[in-house]
Amino acid sequence: MNATSFLLKGDLCYSVDPNTLRSVPNGYLLCVDGRCAGVFDTIPESYASLPLLDYTGHLILPGLTDLHVHAPQYTYRGLGMDLELLDWLNTYTFPEEARFRDLSYAKQAYSRFVEDVRRGPNTRLCAFATVHPDATRLLMDLLEESGLVAMVGKVNMDRNASPDLQEESAEASLAATVSWLEESAGRYQRVSPILTPRFIPSCSDPLMESLGKLQRERNLPVQSHLSENRSEVEWVKELCPSSHGYGDAYDSFGLFGGENCPTIMAHCVLSDDDEIALMRERQVYVAHCPASNTNLASGIAPARRYLEEGIPMGLGSDVAGGTHCSIFRAMADAVQVSKLRWRLVDSTLAPLSATEAFWLGTMGGGSFFGQVGSFLPGYECDILVLDDRRYNPPEAHSVQQRLERTIYLSEDRDIVHKFVRGSQLF
Ligand code: GUN
Ligand code: FE
Repeated sequence: MNATSFLLKGDLCYSVDPNTLRSVPNGYLLCVDGRCAGVFDTIPESYASLPLLDYTGHLILPGLTDLHVHAPQYTYRGLGMDLELLDWLNTYTFPEEARFRDLSYAKQAYSRFVEDVRRGPNTRLCAFATVHPDATRLLMDLLEESGLVAMVGKVNMDRNASPDLQEESAEASLAATVSWLEESAGRYQRVSPILTPRFIPSCSDPLMESLGKLQRERNLPVQSHLSENRSEVEWVKELCPSSHGYGDAYDSFGLFGGENCPTIMAHCVLSDDDEIALMRERQVYVAHCPASNTNLASGIAPARRYLEEGIPMGLGSDVAGGTHCSIFRAMADAVQVSKLRWRLVDSTLAPLSATEAFWLGTMGGGSFFGQVGSFLPGYECDILVLDDRRYNPPEAHSVQQRLERTIYLSEDRDIVHKFVRGSQLF
């Protein structure tokens, strides 16, 4: 019998669509070869011989996806939150990322980051590394060993950074990217590369041009930052006078979504109507990062509008703009900032519900990885087993209410088992 085929018993709860949760108390989740093959009230007879993992009384949820996180920034979370984006990058981020040239430093720092995520509720992540190919491969090795599934990007930046971090030229940046891709090809089951131009201010036109070409040659996914902060958006206007906006600047290099270019743009706090229309047309994923947008005083992204307009979206921790890796926390933050936005900025955009935030952190972001983030048939079995009795007294609440409280109250220590693609991490 395949080790990734089993039945798992417990109080199941998962999204079906943004507004619909399904809960099955005392239900059975059938996992066949790492994929969900149904949820049942009783054991289906034809599968009665499969191993039964009995977690009666525990809450069983799909794993969460962090659609935007900076692995090297884990080391300085909580520092410099009195600054806005561009000063924060220059004062804290770039000096810290420069240290990842030293592989032994990178190993220490990345090991801590990966262990934190492994213990927490996220099963998938799209991570920025740094410009350094060796340290980026090291991060990929550590993630692979952890059992998590990740897309990881060697960052490209050939302008406007400190000399100890910035790559020497567009050619040098491209060459380092190609050798990183070639040396990581075929090495991993669970980790894959994603093209990562840091943001327009960090990447010259010739570099963006060559990354666009590389994207088309190798059909790579793309991640970057978009319309996060006012000074940044103004700067992009100066840097790209012929573009019709920030999103259009990426688009002019072929790095803004479309059929063969799955793309995540973090933040989208200040996107205007034209940019939003282009995001919808190209089906660009928004990584909504409410904690980071609060900490760096960037603003509040119109998540409700993106949902209504059919723009794909998930949640990001954006560590170290955000301080915590857990996407449960990002769910609570997303609900909270949406209420402030509704009350203080725009009463036409209703706040997000906990159900919607849960969908964003599971199916919404998970869909960037395929069928991920639900227990619907065919979905990959990323599973969290939570002992929620610490904050949910037995029988006091429905399964759905227990989920709602888990979003706000759970800690990593409440996760007693975790599975990714049907394989048990702990
Ligand atoms: N824009 C460019 N780089 C970064 C980064 O590291 N963090 C955030 N929040 N925004 C960015
Ligand atoms: Fe970021």
